[in-house]
Amino acid sequence: MSGLLPRIERMPEPPVIPSPRDERPRRSVLYVPGSNAKALAKARTLPCDGLILDLEDSVAPEAKEPARRAVVEAATAGGFAPRELLVRVNARGTPWHRDDLASFSRLPVDGIVLPKVETPEDVREAAGVLAASGAPSPLALWLTIETPRGVLAADQVTGAHPSVAGLVAGTSDLTKELRARHVSGREPLLHALSAIVLAARAHSLPALDGVHLALEDEEGFAAACRQGRDLGFDGKTLIHPRTIPAANRAFAPDPAEVDDARRLLAAWRAARAEGRGVVVHERRLVEELHAKEAERLVALAQAIAARDAGG
Ligand code: COA
Ligand code: MG
Repeated sequence: MSGLLPRIERMPEPPVIPSPRDERPRRSVLYVPGSNAKALAKARTLPCDGLILDLEDSVAPEAKEPARRAVVEAATAGGFAPRELLVRVNARGTPWHRDDLASFSRLPVDGIVLPKVETPEDVREAAGVLAASGAPSPLALWLTIETPRGVLAADQVTGAHPSVAGLVAGTSDLTKELRARHVSGREPLLHALSAIVLAARAHSLPALDGVHLALEDEEGFAAACRQGRDLGFDGKTLIHPRTIPAANRAFAPDPAEVDDARRLLAAWRAARAEGRGVVVHERRLVEELHAKEAERLVALAQAIAARDAGG
């Protein structure tokens, strides 16, 4: 410690913290089957941060086209804000992929979720179809990582196009592809989950954890949320509205943490005003990285308060 301080004191002018980023809350992101009219209507009333209107796994092959029409109609009618509105299209290589993309290129949605992404070409081709069918640039692309190849290529696919806006862990497919077992601590998936968070953070993007399949298992669900949060995920994808409040609780910073961040920021700003680049606050050494993290937490807490006030 004593060897460290003189070096810090000789530091040049410490950089200023950039203004808070868009910390849009993504604690709870619910899949809504495009083939379920009742669920599409209910989605507009739910306290989740985001929705993924789904044309893929939750829609049977014979229902793909009616589901696409229903989701186009729902997105056109609107009424989903302040929830972030994403549409999950069918994967590249299926008969519906290109028409799904073209159908949403000019609708008021916040982004498109691509399933089973494995190669940079999967991403570039989808971006190309969207652009060719008149999408405003950039229409956000969220990539689902749910195959061994997807996990191994997570960095490359995330960096494949500037429209990539975030990653989604597809834990059901991944478990099947790995021939792993669904176990409560998700140990078989930990490598893949961390690879997804790493790739997202390497590109400064958000990451959403996979779904919890056991609908009645409240305790297991809460534990999986805590684990996802501790691994670094921003929120969890969900399959049932009943699970939204627990996900919202788990992925929100707790009030004590936010108070702590506010005090730390005040101490840091006071130190900066005196030209210092390091401060001891409540017996802890505080550097710019801690101040940045505190600023992110405070911005996230403010965004959550605004979301929760919005119904
Ligand atoms: N989105 C929006 N609303 C939903 C919903 C969802 N994912 N899941 C259920 N609801 C609604 C129901 O329509 C019902 O509405 P109502 O109160 O107006 O009647 C209410 O919530 C209660 O639903 P419940 O009866 O408990 O469930 P269900 O039997 O209707 O549906 C599932 C259970 C699992 C079939 C359904 O939750 C579902 O399809 N989830 C999504 C699955 C999915 O998307 N999988 C792919 C991604 S992994
Ligand atoms: Mg899947």
